[in-house]
Amino acid sequence: MQSTGPQRIAIVTGANKGIGLEICKQLLETGVKVVLTARDEARGKAAVKKLQDEGATDVVFHQLDVADPASISTLREFIQNQFGRLDILINNAGINGGELVSQDTLVVGDLSRLAAAIVESYEKAQECIDINYYGTTEMCKAFIPLLQLSQIPRIVNVSSSAGKLQRIPGESIRKELGDINALTEVRLEELVSKFLDDFKEGRLEEGGWPNIMSAYKVSKAAVCAYTRIIAKSYPKIITNCICPGYVKTDINYDTGILTVEEGAKGPVMLALLPDGSPSGQFYFQTELSSFE
Ligand SMILES: NC(=O)c1ccc[n+]([C@@H]2O[C@H](COP(=O)([O-])OP(=O)(O)OC[C@H]3O[C@@H](n4cnc5c(N)ncnc54)[C@H](OP(=O)(O)O)[C@@H]3O)[C@@H](O)[C@H]2O)c1
Repeated sequence: MQSTGPQRIAIVTGANKGIGLEICKQLLETGVKVVLTARDEARGKAAVKKLQDEGATDVVFHQLDVADPASISTLREFIQNQFGRLDILINNAGINGGELVSQDTLVVGDLSRLAAAIVESYEKAQECIDINYYGTTEMCKAFIPLLQLSQIPRIVNVSSSAGKLQRIPGESIRKELGDINALTEVRLEELVSKFLDDFKEGRLEEGGWPNIMSAYKVSKAAVCAYTRIIAKSYPKIITNCICPGYVKTDINYDTGILTVEEGAKGPVMLALLPDGSPSGQFYFQTELSSFE
């Protein structure tokens, strides 16, 4: 349990299952008050009940679809009225941007077979960008004013090693995403829209984009770049992104090799970083890594 200071208040997105639910559990164990959010009320309430049945008391449910601005506003009002500030925002909600064609070829621990078994459509790619990228940016924008009222504000963006710059074949895109001194949010959005246009027109390769799990990789690369922009713009908010490792959850049809307990450790560590810790960094599990 925390011994000093006011009780920290955290929001976790996409927390009805998988890594998000486990993040809530581990935060609760350290004495943080957790607002467990989920897009589906019944699934979210069931998750809260599960935690309460295990002995948790400081957990509340609030509906949140990160792709729905009205839902984000309603949550912001709730946090404002209930607590008047926010200490920790964990942007964890995500989808893989594709549909599984066949379960038969999947092998535990084999990411390339997983990627080969997923087909992407334009609609799914768009949904993936909306949830993984814009879900993260809109949540940050909505909650930064409340995070600025905290003594110990932290943002954790759950990204992926799939979003490392090396996953983007186009050199000029890689350069722009990696040039944090020049990159702006407006330019980042232009790049993301260009990706969707190229996807629609069947120009992924010419455009310099990945052509396997393309929307997932681009959405996560954009989350990484956005994390650096936020860290630079708001130096008092310690903001980092992280790949939790290859964790056995629904997003990879249970082909991951780590448990959710292992996967949640890194995001929880970043949520509780002491003052003066690095900001604007990429972590792999609990280790500092690189955006490259
Ligand atoms: N598992 C891995 O190996 C791995 C590796 C790298 C990164 N990650 C990242 O880790 C994060 C958590 O994934 P996971 O592995 O725990 O997968 P998961 O079990 O499939 O959980 C994903 C969560 O996101 C929620 N979600 C999806 N769209 C949403 C929306 N529009 N609004 C709110 N919530 C939404 C899902 O809710 P529903 O139940 O309603 O669909 C679910 O609760 C994701 O960002 C993922 O990209 C995972």
